[in-house]
Parts: sequence; structure tokens; C-alpha cells
Amino acid sequence: MPETAQQDRKEDSTLKTIATHTHTKDRALRARASAVIPGGMYGHQNVGAMPEGFPQFLERGRGSRIWDVDGNEYIDFMCSYGPIVLGHAHPKVDAAAAAQQAEADCQNSPSSRIVELAELLVATIPHADWATFAKNGTDATTWCLMVARAATGRRKVLAAKGAYHGAAPWCNPRPNGTTPEDRANLLYYSYNNLQSVEAALEAAGDDTAGIIVSPFRHDAGFDQELVDPAFARGLRAICDRTGAALILDDVRAGFRLDIGGSWETVGVRPDLSAYSKAIANGYALAAVVGADKFREGARQVFNTGSFWFAAASMAASMATITAIKEERAIESMTNAGTLFRDGLAAQAESHGLRIRQTGPVQMPFLTFEDDADFRKALVFTGEAIRRGVYLHPRHNWFLSAALTEDDIAEALEVTDVAFARVRTAFGAD
Ligand SMILES: Cc1ncc(COP(=O)(O)O)c(C=O)c1O
Repeated sequence: MPETAQQDRKEDSTLKTIATHTHTKDRALRARASAVIPGGMYGHQNVGAMPEGFPQFLERGRGSRIWDVDGNEYIDFMCSYGPIVLGHAHPKVDAAAAAQQAEADCQNSPSSRIVELAELLVATIPHADWATFAKNGTDATTWCLMVARAATGRRKVLAAKGAYHGAAPWCNPRPNGTTPEDRANLLYYSYNNLQSVEAALEAAGDDTAGIIVSPFRHDAGFDQELVDPAFARGLRAICDRTGAALILDDVRAGFRLDIGGSWETVGVRPDLSAYSKAIANGYALAAVVGADKFREGARQVFNTGSFWFAAASMAASMATITAIKEERAIESMTNAGTLFRDGLAAQAESHGLRIRQTGPVQMPFLTFEDDADFRKALVFTGEAIRRGVYLHPRHNWFLSAALTEDDIAEALEVTDVAFARVRTAFGAD
């Protein structure tokens, strides 16, 4: 829609929100952080990685909403980069964690929650015959590689070029602090390209322990690419032929696409799956689940951490998985995501802007045509955040089951204005 009176009215309705957005406390905290935290902040929250206008510090979350340290409210489309699948502070999950915490969390040995949760995962995920636990996605992906090596007695692992599997030296996306030797046993293929997998396999000789793959291509900074079912089936066939482990990195997508594992959607079952993020709706937990064929390998690999047996996050995880089923969370995210995607498509068209929307609707991403440097995306998400909608310019978004149709309608009012701003700044396509 060009700059019309109707649009001006919509914009007016958001001006109050803009006027009340201040970042005084955020700025003060940034200054303090720069003195005591190297670089002011690290990882994907690194000061340089945060787009202008995004708050660095958040204080509170309830359902689909979050508030920053200055009290500004946002509809949350990032969900803590994945963990918040049911919405912030889900009452049943928080109650389960609090009840466990009141008994004991971190003890000399695990509580019975670990057995109950392993049983629940085995009952929920068709390819899982056993489960083990850790704290972060990197713990889980790294351990999957060790299990594959222990089980096969081989060294090489095939990974997709550019895929993110965590921050350990073997998979850290930045070279600083790592050595070439850390990756000496990795070979790379191109996602959705079986020929490149066969080439990497050949280069590995008889030494391939496993192939690690994400359920779809969700590399940050790129359009997302759904898996070609023939590619998934091809990987399964290669692993069956060679004895290598098919490792699904379900850390980011797990429990958003299918409760039984993200490749249930294409009918392919991995040997090992790594989970974290959404597994406990924000409580720190990771899991590896595996098929019987890899049980002995799993038994052999030493696996532990100071907090890896802690019970509160396991209680939270059981409540999360139960609520995902009972509340039909995947269906609600799909409905909200479809509404959002359709609304964004119609708005972009009405503003004469060409966009691409990629990935599953529960984990969508939007890019603009002719926007390799993300300047349009920065204006779009910058205008959205100023008006109370938390999107990200370069990373896929995450929906939670707490998003209602009203939330989507409210968010779409804001994105309409944000698209208008992009058009004003860059012109129509
Ligand atoms: C696909 C994937 N694998 C592994 C990881 C690493 O998980 P964590 O940051 O919990 O170590 C992530 C985190 O974003 C991820 O998206």
C-alpha cells in the first residue's frame, strides 16, 4: 500500500508506543557491561551483532510478550532464539520446575526424574530407544559425534558447509581460538546435495563415523531451505550402507515441527538426535536420543557435567513435552505462523516490495530482494522493534504456542508501517 491516509492512521496508532520507548537503563547497563564483560557482550548477543534500536537487556516475559529493562513491551517472535516454545513463564512448566527445586535440584546423583524423562522421550520419539542428558545444544551435538566414533571405531564426520552445530572448537563458526586440527576429522558437503555427500564419503575412505545434518537448512544470514525428502532418504541409505551414524541436529527445530523428531515430517529416522532449546521451555537442558544400534557406543563414551543430572530442568522438560501434546502447541504455532506469513506477503505486495519468506511457518524468516547487506531488513526490523514487535534481521524467527490471532493482528499492524518505511527509504522494487 502506498503512503495513504489509511496507513497514516495506522502509523499514528503506533506513535504512542514509540514515544514511550526509552532505553536509559539499557544504555547504562551497556556501559557497565563494557567494563566487566569482554567486548561488552559475547556470542550472538555481541554488541556489534545487535541491530541498532534493539534492547540488549530483557527483564521479564509472560506468554507471547517480553519486557526490556526500561519496561518497553514487545510481542516476541524470537522466543529466546528457540527455547520458549509454549510462551514465557508457562504456568505448568514453572510449577513443575519449582516443585522439583523445592525438593532438590543438583545432588550427588540423579533423581528419579532422569528415568521418567528418558522414558517419556523414548515413548514420544519413534527412533529413540534410549536418552542421555546435558545442558546445551553444543554438549549434545559434540557427544553425538563421540558416540558415532565409539560405535564405529572410525574418525571422520561429514557436516554441511555453513551449518551451525554449536560453539565447541570442532564447530565454532569463527576460527579465533581454534586450530585446523580441531576440524581435522570433518569433511563438508552441501545441504540437499547427495553428490557432494558421496564425494565427501569417498574422500573419507572407510573412515566415516557419521553424518550430521540439520532438519532443514537454517544457516543464519541466508534464506532457509527445507529438506528435500529424497536427500534425507539418500542420507539414510548411505548410513545404512556404510554403517555410519545418521545424526540429526534437532537442537534448533526440535519440538516445533513434529513431536516425534523433525524428520518424521519426511519419514526418515536418524540413529542419533541432539536436542536442547525447546526441550524444557527455557530451563537449561539438552538431550541425545538414539537407536539401539548405538546404545553400546553411548555406554562407552564418558559423559558428564557439574549440572547435567540436575532435576528441576528435567521436571520442566516433562511438563513441557506433556503441554506441547495436550495444548496442541505445534498446531497453534502452525496456525499463527500461517496467518503471519500470509499477512506479511499481502502487505509486502501492497507496498510494492519483493520479499522471500522461507523455512517452516513455526520458524519463519523474511528477506528482501536486492538486500545482500541486510540494509532493508535492518530498517524493517528496526521499525518493528521501535513499535513493539521483536523480529530479527539476519536470524530465523521462532514462534511460540502463546501467540494468539490477536497478537498476530497487532504485529501485522506494526509490520505494515515497517514495510512503508522500507519503501520510503529504498523505493518500490
Ligand atoms: C542447530 C543448532 N545446533 C546446535 C546449537 C548449539 O546449541 P547451544 O547454543 O545450546 O550450545 C544451536 C544453537 O543455536 C543450533 O541452532
